Formats: sequence, structure tokens, C-alpha cells
Amino acid sequence: MADETLTIRDNRTGTEIEVPIVDGTIHATDLRQLGLTSYDPAFLNTASCRSAITYIDGDAGILRYRGYPIEQVAEHATFLETAWLLLEGELPTKEQLAAWEDEVRTHTYVHTNVTTFLDGFRHDAHPMGMLLGAVGALSTFYPDAKNIGDAESRRLQKVRLIAKFPTIAAWVFRHTRGLPYVFPRNDLDYIGNFVNMTFEIGGRHEPNPVLQRALEILLILHADHEQNASTNAVRGVGSTHVDPFSAVSAGVAALYGPLHGGANEAVLLMLDEIGTKDRVPEFIESVKAGHGRLMGFGHRVYKSYDPRAKLIKRVADDVFAETGLNPKLEIALELEKIALEDEYFVSRKLYPNVDFYSGLIYQAMGYPTDYFTVLFALGRLPGWVSQWDEMLGDPEQKIARPRQIYTGYDERDFVPLEQRG
Ligand code: ACO
Repeated sequence: MADETLTIRDNRTGTEIEVPIVDGTIHATDLRQLGLTSYDPAFLNTASCRSAITYIDGDAGILRYRGYPIEQVAEHATFLETAWLLLEGELPTKEQLAAWEDEVRTHTYVHTNVTTFLDGFRHDAHPMGMLLGAVGALSTFYPDAKNIGDAESRRLQKVRLIAKFPTIAAWVFRHTRGLPYVFPRNDLDYIGNFVNMTFEIGGRHEPNPVLQRALEILLILHADHEQNASTNAVRGVGSTHVDPFSAVSAGVAALYGPLHGGANEAVLLMLDEIGTKDRVPEFIESVKAGHGRLMGFGHRVYKSYDPRAKLIKRVADDVFAETGLNPKLEIALELEKIALEDEYFVSRKLYPNVDFYSGLIYQAMGYPTDYFTVLFALGRLPGWVSQWDEMLGDPEQKIARPRQIYTGYDERDFVPLEQRG
């Protein structure tokens, strides 16, 4: 028995059990001794796994990847370095990083048949719908990905996913614009290659190092966030032992939802609705009166501040110094100023979250609003594949199959069609 225990007395029968408390949790299966099941819709207070990847302390505003504070990772690492850290658990040595970058570079090409079925999408197809279909379809190009029990095969699929995702994401962008697909260039780094594949026209694209680094930081800030909805989807689907392309497409599908990946788009719509800075107080009053929410504010886990939002604000300064001020930024700054002083928001611990400024930045970089979630997916990918791999290596994990509380009819006899009224 663990040092710390919880005694549970079932008043129906007088039975008492003592269950161990380990890492601040009790095991739901211990309740079976009393014939009980735990009920936790939407997993508000359930840990679904053990994970050594990302640590969050929502009250203190702390986010760490493999123990390293997000502030330090965002300042010093590249995106591929961050991906290695999440996947392997340690920062790479110089040699490891060079070999990793080289390996990713050699897998950036995607079978050209993918362009054929991307062409089949309507011109106004949502970028996330196309991304989800194309990533899932990769499983048909790599049937060896089914060998999820083989560590070397798993490693290869992780490399393929991280290498090919930017190519597909960029092609999705080109399709929405009716532009020809640009193929990967091996002389460019990960971010430079992605930006070139999205924006190159007629063989020309003048890279802007400030904007590229800003994009890289945003992707790093999104790289993992423990058991969020899309990661939970990747783990849940992956627990059936399907190939990782299919599991990751489930993550893309979850991220597509407006409650998860779509909030930065909603911030821009809100700023459009407000229109001018002088209308901010009126808007704040309407939110306080219960008419809608201040999008980009509040978080389920962070109840002091979202550490990513602080970093993003700095990135915004760099980007707007480069691109010129976006008129919406003025409205956003005013909203933030007023909300941070207002008793309604302060008492409810509502602070700007990661989405408050990210949409404005993406827009300034030239991405359309319906593409923002694709950028989020590109950033979150290393987290998805790291969590998928961790789950497969965890002997406690089985197929994710929750229970239910049945609320339907008791048994009743089938009524033949001619006897139904
Ligand atoms: N604007 C105004 N009031 C808010 C907001 C907001 N953005 N967020 C929460 N509140 C209020 C609620 O009305 C509630 O008030 P009450 O106690 O008087 O009823 C109180 O704060 C608590 O709100 P909950 O909904 O219980 O908080 P929860 O933790 O469930 O919600 C969420 C978190 C969904 C992020 C919420 O703050 C929200 O809707 N924010 C706006 C959308 C957004 O920015 N989402 C992005 C999240 S970050 C991400 O997904 C990457």
C-alpha cells in the first residue's frame, strides 16, 4: 500500500476500502472493488495517461517541454530542435541536430499523386478539410506504417510526418489560391522551405528573416500542450494500433473544431465587429452583460496567465515593426488594457491566451484567416507524434474505450412494422 491513501466508505453497504494515492491521483479501477465506475464527461478531472513530455502548472502560468521552460525553448531553439526534444526527451547535440535536419530534408517530397487528389477539392474547400484528408491518405502511400510494433518503422513514420506535413500544408495553401504547387528545396531550412512553398511566385520569393523567425517561434509555442483535445484524439485513435498517419489525421480533425484551433480566427472576427478603438468600452460592457465572450481571453488550464501569450506579444512587436501597424492591433491593445483592469475579468482570472495575438500576426504575414488552424496543426505535429509514440510504449495503455451510464429503455419486445401506430 502507498504511503498516502484515501479511505472510501460505501454507505449503502458499510464497506470501506483504502485506495493508494499516487502522484496526487487515485486509480479509477480501484473503485471496482465497490462495484462503482467514475463518471467524468469531458475528462474535467481525469488523467488519461502518464506522460514525461510536457508539464503545465495552470495556476502559476508555467509551461515546460521535457523540463525546459517554454521561454527558454522559444528564445534559443529552432522548430526542428524542439521537435527532437519532444520526440527524444533530450536536447540534440550538434551532430544529432545536423543529422536530424538532414534526415527530415530527405523526406520532404510527397508522392505527386497527392497533388492529383488535392486538385479534386473545390477551389473554396476549407484548408483544414483538405489537410485532414491528405494527411490521412498518406497511410495508403506507406502501408509499412502499419508495423507500429516495430521501433524502426515507427521512427521512420515520425520523420515522414514531420518532413511531409509542411509540403502538404503549403500545397493546400496553393490550392486555395489557384497557384501551381511548389516543390521542396533542399537548400532551405524547415521554416524557410515551408514559407517558400507557400509564397513563391514565378521562382521568386524574398525571404524575410524576422517574419520567418516569428513564425518559427509561434510554431514552437504550439508544439505540445499535454492532453489537449487534438492530442487526446491522436492518442485515442492511435490506441487502436492504426497507422500514425490516420491517428494524426484524427488530431487534425479535432483541431479543426472552433472550440480548439479556431479561436484566433474568432479574435479577428471580433476585432472586425468592434471596428474602431473608441467602440472598445461599449464592447467590453456588452461582454460583461452576457452578450458573447471576449475571444482570446481565458483558458481552461491557465488561471493566472498563459505564458505563451506573453511571448507572442513580443513576437507581435517584432512582426509589426517589420510589416507596419495593423489597424486591428490598436483595437486589440485597447481591449487588453481595459480588460486587464476591469473587475469582471480580473475576478474571473481572465487573461489573454495564446490566440489573442497569433491571428493578427499570421494575418500580417499574409496568411488568410481560414489558414490559421493549418499553422497551428503544423506547430502541434511534433507533440502529436511524440505523444503517439509515448502511448505505444506505455505498458499501462490499452485501447481507449470508456464506459457509459446507460440512460435508455429497459428491455422491451420488438414491435413488427404493421403493428406500430
Ligand atoms: N469572455 C468573457 N467572460 C468569460 C470568458 C471570456 N473570454 N471566458 C470565461 N468567461 C467567464 C464565464 O462567463 C464565466 O463567468 P461566470 O462565472 O460569471 O459564469 C467564468 O468566466 C468562467 O468561465 P468558464 O466557461 O467556466 O471557463 P472555462 O475554463 O470552462 O473556459 C475557455 C475556458 C473556453 C477558454 C473560455 O475562457 C473562453 O470561451 N474563452 C474565449 C475563447 C478562446 O479564446 N479560446 C481559446 C482558448 S486557448 C486554445 O484553445 C489554444
